[in-house]
Amino acid sequence: MTFRKTPVAAFIGMALLTCFGASAASSASKPARPWLNTHLSPDQRASLVVKAMTQDEKFQLIDVQFGDTENGHVMSPGALASAGYDPAIKRLGLPALQESDAGLGVAKPHKLGATALPSGLATAASFDPALAYAGGAMIGSEAHHRGFNVMLAGGADLVRDPRNGRNFEYAGEDPLLTGLIVGHAIAGIQSQHVVSTIKHYAFNDLETARTTFSADINPTAARESDLLAFEIAIETGHPGSVMCSYNRVNSVYACENDWLLDKVLKRDWHYPGYVMSDWGAVHSAAKSALAGLDQESAGETFDKEVYFGKPLRAAVASGKVPQSRIDDMAHRILRSLFASGVIDHPAEQAPIDFAADRKVAQHVEEAGAVLLRNQNALLPLSGAQSVAVIGGHADKGVLTGGGSSAVQSPEGNAVPGLAPTAWPGPRIYQPSAPLTAIRQRAHGKVSYASGEDIAAAAKLAAQAKVAVVFVEQWSAESFDSPHMTLPGNQDALVAAVAKANPHTIVVLENNGPVAMPWLDQVGAVLEAWYPGAGGGEAIARLLYGEVDPAGRLPVSWPRDEAQLPRPQIPGAGLASIGLIPQGQPAEQVDYNIEGANVGYRWYQHKDIQPLFPFGYGLGYTHFTYSAFKPRVEHGHVMASFTVTNRGKRAGVDVPQLYATLPGSGEVRRLAGWCRVNLKPGQSAHLEVTADPRLLVNFDASGQQWQRPSGSYQLQLGHSATSFQGQGSVTLPKASWPADAPPKGASQSCLASRN
Ligand code: BGC
Repeated sequence: MTFRKTPVAAFIGMALLTCFGASAASSASKPARPWLNTHLSPDQRASLVVKAMTQDEKFQLIDVQFGDTENGHVMSPGALASAGYDPAIKRLGLPALQESDAGLGVAKPHKLGATALPSGLATAASFDPALAYAGGAMIGSEAHHRGFNVMLAGGADLVRDPRNGRNFEYAGEDPLLTGLIVGHAIAGIQSQHVVSTIKHYAFNDLETARTTFSADINPTAARESDLLAFEIAIETGHPGSVMCSYNRVNSVYACENDWLLDKVLKRDWHYPGYVMSDWGAVHSAAKSALAGLDQESAGETFDKEVYFGKPLRAAVASGKVPQSRIDDMAHRILRSLFASGVIDHPAEQAPIDFAADRKVAQHVEEAGAVLLRNQNALLPLSGAQSVAVIGGHADKGVLTGGGSSAVQSPEGNAVPGLAPTAWPGPRIYQPSAPLTAIRQRAHGKVSYASGEDIAAAAKLAAQAKVAVVFVEQWSAESFDSPHMTLPGNQDALVAAVAKANPHTIVVLENNGPVAMPWLDQVGAVLEAWYPGAGGGEAIARLLYGEVDPAGRLPVSWPRDEAQLPRPQIPGAGLASIGLIPQGQPAEQVDYNIEGANVGYRWYQHKDIQPLFPFGYGLGYTHFTYSAFKPRVEHGHVMASFTVTNRGKRAGVDVPQLYATLPGSGEVRRLAGWCRVNLKPGQSAHLEVTADPRLLVNFDASGQQWQRPSGSYQLQLGHSATSFQGQGSVTLPKASWPADAPPKGASQSCLASRN
């Protein structure tokens, strides 16, 4: 794979465009371009442009080229060497579309670099929508200052399997948490006048055979799981675009799936923006167009042909696709460009304050790392202790997930050359060495061993007061892990170090839950996910108690693969990193096994105890809950309660409200939560509103949301399995049509303290 520097022509072209648009807006008394009138609505403005467009201009807008040089593509002059490019339509004052991956930062060009957020799972683990917004605004601003105006962000597929290669791009297994976190991240990006997508719509919850497999799921389970996450995120963040996924859903490719695109997204959810395809996800012209696809991405490079070129023109000429559909496609795209300010505030090259942005990423990691185990208060460390730091390239940096979302620091890759060096690599490390950050805090001796020589590492560990072992699991799009085992000799390394030193702390840099056969032998485990820019500093600050670990698991942590709905993923793996695929990938993946009972709901439904439940996480203090009182007020289910910090340190808690609907076989659902920071001994009186969308079921035959009458059990949890406070409320039966679901509660948590 090669990367080119941004061509100078691109900068010149953009500067010209900016002047061009601005002068046109202010020149004539009867404006030549009435759509530049900012007093009009995005829809009015889009309609005016569409009226002025030629058919060729419309077809240009609905067919975006690849913006880079891979796969033999010859990059257009003006493209910024990234995911997608559509030339400016100067006659109309429309800027070029410059599309950049992805949800964790500006991914390309790698040579220029950008600030990497930690994994999406870290942001989700913060349970803090405001933080998700701040992270989104940071990466959106970097995109804008690199000249990009569309960001391929907003990963909202639910985590149905810890082995899915892209879990680090997503926000967990719960529809409400995912919807609110991703929705706020999208709103943050778009606050910078950059269109954000939400992706991959829908059910791209596995990567194995992602371009062919069919995710089979019944419509009720679909609406109550992944689709609910998308619905809430779209309502919260108003993404300008939805990216349809590679896979099929109930046998029909997502990008030509009339039910997904036209019925659910555009009719039931009244989505006004545009649907763009994933890169290589289009298989037809008329069928896709009629189903609701609005823009083909990089078809000339990744699809069999450019379906939204000649074939679609022919379909229009023959009357198979009405002209009004082409106009609608153009309208939807333009509407989103106006709505997010892309046209009024053109993206332009400008300096980026990388030091400030790194702090934003670091802050997310500090809020989202999850302390899984801490025996005998081994953590926080004291500066006086000698430390043996082992493994994970901790002397150089922290790991990043791979594929299209991989972000390289402006300072480069801290550990270049590791496999795989080609797609879905390269394997990238952020230059933020935990070892350096630990050295800055430890007054005692700090030594380092790479961990390749297990005996040497154990010897080093035996000589120190504490040992901190960094273990890693690289993951990326296009493949899943066949199992939950850490790669290489890392399990043996941890076991040997733990044997040599009872004060062993394990720091995980990974895609998500992995097997930990050595768990009982180590003193502490910190889940750091992919820690992002500034991740090394964040980890050290957490280990030394400069910040209290506050993350809560956004995914359940199974003991092993046998606990999962699908214990095997046939064909999973990536040979170049030693994960040899076994068996033929499935053509159909049966999501009806768990249906809407994803994650913690599956474990409750099957009466299985995972290793760590959803919502779980330790801190350096502890909290108790009291005076739990649920009630119904103006039709809303609310619960008030008191949280008290019982420890000797300040800390953050995330009390979680779970609701169980009346009826047999129902399992609890996360319906709301609070995030509260309390000093030692301090209490807060909190009131949380249950989101009404979690108190209804979808009736597919009647196309309605229904709230059953009866008693709703409410539980206040430290996690999805540990409760301190419960009660019930009675609600009458109610129903809402599929296109007018109950209005969301916008994650309201009211607090007062003493
Ligand atoms: C990924 C998308 C990404 C696109 C463009 C695809 O392989 O699935 O998430 O936005 O490439 O790079």
